[in-house]
Amino acid sequence: MDDAVELESIRHQYEQAGLDVSDVDPDPIVQFRSWFDAWAATGPRDPGLMVLATVDDEGWPASRAVLLRGLDDRGFVFYTNHTSDKGRALDAMRRASLSFVWHDLERQVRVVGGVDRVSDEESDAYFASRPRGSQVGAWASDQSAVLPDRVTLDERVAEIDRQYQGDVPRPPHWGGYRVQPREIEFWQGRPSRLHDRVRYRRAGSAGPGSPVWVIERLAP
Ligand SMILES: Cc1cc2nc3c(=O)[nH]c(=O)nc-3n(C[C@H](O)[C@H](O)[C@H](O)COP(=O)(O)O)c2cc1C
Repeated sequence: MDDAVELESIRHQYEQAGLDVSDVDPDPIVQFRSWFDAWAATGPRDPGLMVLATVDDEGWPASRAVLLRGLDDRGFVFYTNHTSDKGRALDAMRRASLSFVWHDLERQVRVVGGVDRVSDEESDAYFASRPRGSQVGAWASDQSAVLPDRVTLDERVAEIDRQYQGDVPRPPHWGGYRVQPREIEFWQGRPSRLHDRVRYRRAGSAGPGSPVWVIERLAP
């Protein structure tokens, strides 16, 4: 145990930057884009990595990593299997939270919102852009189901691969979800744990596609 990391003695001072209500863009998606681009510029392996939290119809929470594959005024898009644990929870509850931890920049962004499936056209277009191996995998894997062994999965992959010699169509059980933010919080680490937190809270709408955002500082 001598080499074990002593968790309780790790101390990191956060001091790269500050954040104030007056610094941020009135539109949280524009603000997210600007922070996301700064994060991507640091060269992470997969800048779109985020943690998706769901709650099922019994109130049990679950979280897992997924990849951000689309972002516009309507929200944050990722793709998955609709019959997976997360797909069932999303379809049943239609709510989710996303967390982005950009530690090299001492930043965190949290999103909470309602969830809808993206259109079939959007899912088709994204599915068509995936490598063939991933397309075959989407048919072969009954995501979140119990598998007896690896061989069962490999055999199923080989079977699907034989079945679709040319283009692989999108499986009906696979597609995108969009998280439509009702809250987005931007967190910037500061010294002595007195961090800066700026939260956008959706407070109605000024017309179609024009949400009204209340921007507030939160205690760290
Ligand atoms: C870096 C990384 C990226 C991932 N991206 C996705 C993704 O975009 N979609 C997906 O369905 N699963 C993705 N996964 C796998 C999920 O974390 C999870 O294992 C899987 O979706 C099953 O989750 P569920 O059983 O809660 O539905 C990713 C995992 C990692 C580590």
